[in-house]
Amino acid sequence: MISIENVSHHIGSQRILNRLSLDIPAGGITALVGPNGAGKSTLLSLMARLQPLSDGHIRYGSQDTRSTASSELARTVAILTQENNIHSRITVRDLLMFGRYPHHQGRPQAEDSRVVAQALQDFQLQAFAERYLTELSGGQRQRALIAMVFCQQTPYVLLDEPLNNLDMFHARELMRQLRRLTDQNGLTTVMVVHDINMAAAWADRIVILQDGELACQGSPNDLINPDILQRHFGLDADVLDYQGKKLVVHHV
Ligand SMILES: Nc1ncnc2c1ncn2[C@@H]1O[C@H](COP(=O)(O)OP(=O)(O)O)[C@@H](O)[C@H]1O
Ligand SMILES: [Mg+2]
Repeated sequence: MISIENVSHHIGSQRILNRLSLDIPAGGITALVGPNGAGKSTLLSLMARLQPLSDGHIRYGSQDTRSTASSELARTVAILTQENNIHSRITVRDLLMFGRYPHHQGRPQAEDSRVVAQALQDFQLQAFAERYLTELSGGQRQRALIAMVFCQQTPYVLLDEPLNNLDMFHARELMRQLRRLTDQNGLTTVMVVHDINMAAAWADRIVILQDGELACQGSPNDLINPDILQRHFGLDADVLDYQGKKLVVHHV
């Protein structure tokens, strides 16, 4: 379980997260949704300790991020951040091998090469393996970065808007892969997603964050209804039932 307890975060005098407490059960996909500026990226970065936690606690099982050694945390949780301006001349294969660093500490073994090869296949990157990141489209680069996260082989995976830049085909392929990798490896995957229909179709639970606070949480079928969409997104939309899932009609 991921336990977020009483987490607050300020930037200057601006309050970004306000005494947020949330338990994310182990196993499965949790979709973190909420309006722009709600604090989703801030929360994920605190969860991955990309910035220090000033108030509260975040724990993975019994490991408190305040006291976990960096080398241990790197084998516990991996993150895809929202902003990725990687312009260095590194190939996709080398990037994925870099994701293995917590395991090989700079001396890759056969097992590391095997994991990288598998990730290239899982994320349909074989054709780009020897290309530099600078030579890829935005969506191809995004898939390479996600593949790197999975090469870390951590039980907890945090993905901030992984669907960014992906075309419809690759967005659905990615959700299928996330579902498969999460289920087969017993992972706890937390992803920020704006497309509520992707959350409805693929996530086990949805957490809505608003103004730095937990607005509500639940299963997609329980949570998604016109009232919730109106209250938390100011969105006037119909909600249909389609193949046992909720389908939000929000484009017209
Ligand atoms: N470096 C920063 N300096 C000042 N304000 C920031 C900074 N980073 C984020 N914020 C503010 O914090 C709030 C939450 O941002 P963020 O966590 O990125 O939201 P979300 O990911 O939900 O869109 C926003 O109001 C944003 O403007
Ligand atoms: Mg964000």
